[in-house]
Amino acid sequence: MIFETHAHFDDAAYDADRDTLLAAIHENGIDVIVNVGASLTSTVASIKLAEKYSFVYAAAGVHPSETAELNEKIFAELERLATHKKVVAVGEIGLDYYWDEPSHEIQKLWFKRQLELAKTIQKPVIIHSRDAAKETYDILAAHNGGENGGVIHCFSYSVEMAKAYINLGFYIGIGGVITFKNSKKLKEVVTTVPIERILLETDSPYLSPEPYRGSRNSSQNLPYIAQKIAEIKGMSYDEVVSVTAENARRMYHI
Ligand code: NI
Repeated sequence: MIFETHAHFDDAAYDADRDTLLAAIHENGIDVIVNVGASLTSTVASIKLAEKYSFVYAAAGVHPSETAELNEKIFAELERLATHKKVVAVGEIGLDYYWDEPSHEIQKLWFKRQLELAKTIQKPVIIHSRDAAKETYDILAAHNGGENGGVIHCFSYSVEMAKAYINLGFYIGIGGVITFKNSKKLKEVVTTVPIERILLETDSPYLSPEPYRGSRNSSQNLPYIAQKIAEIKGMSYDEVVSVTAENARRMYHI
């Protein structure tokens, strides 16, 4: 069975059919979903989903693009939520330099604070990093951010950076982009990185794999991602599914 390591089923894109989709998820070969927070509101919503569905777990965190909302009062609330028994990670946290706002200083400040939170409660971290490979790496290295494990979600950097992150204790999250024709760099990463360091994810509702690129994504599309990885690595589909699921269980302690 496939382990979905990163989805956002609390998103408004599922308001019309969330329960129908989740109730049918096992029929599509998915057995566990980690629903990832990106703000205080979505962290609360993720925990609600995790309380409702036994196979859903939550991550608590504020996405770099949402860090302008953070202050000591909200952070204290996030700290409290992160200790919930179905919260298996702190995330998604990190740096996104694609956008100019919030400022890099604000993003770095709250990235470091959330890394410290993960260390305090001894949970792994889910890292969002865009156009900030080196600075993300430097902060993770300086703060020993891989101490309790973690994943570089929706990995978009080079083979060299993948190796460097793995050496810090991280897994590499691979999603729908791997099925795109123009994903040469990511295919090199998947070729090089051992399957024991790869996690499957969709980032639903975003980043649908081929043949559904551009439409709303769902965890039920994970087989397309696993199939592409199997093709690239010359492995069987079943082996990709079972090894990546073991990886996820090890990282999230599920
Ligand atoms: Ni995400």
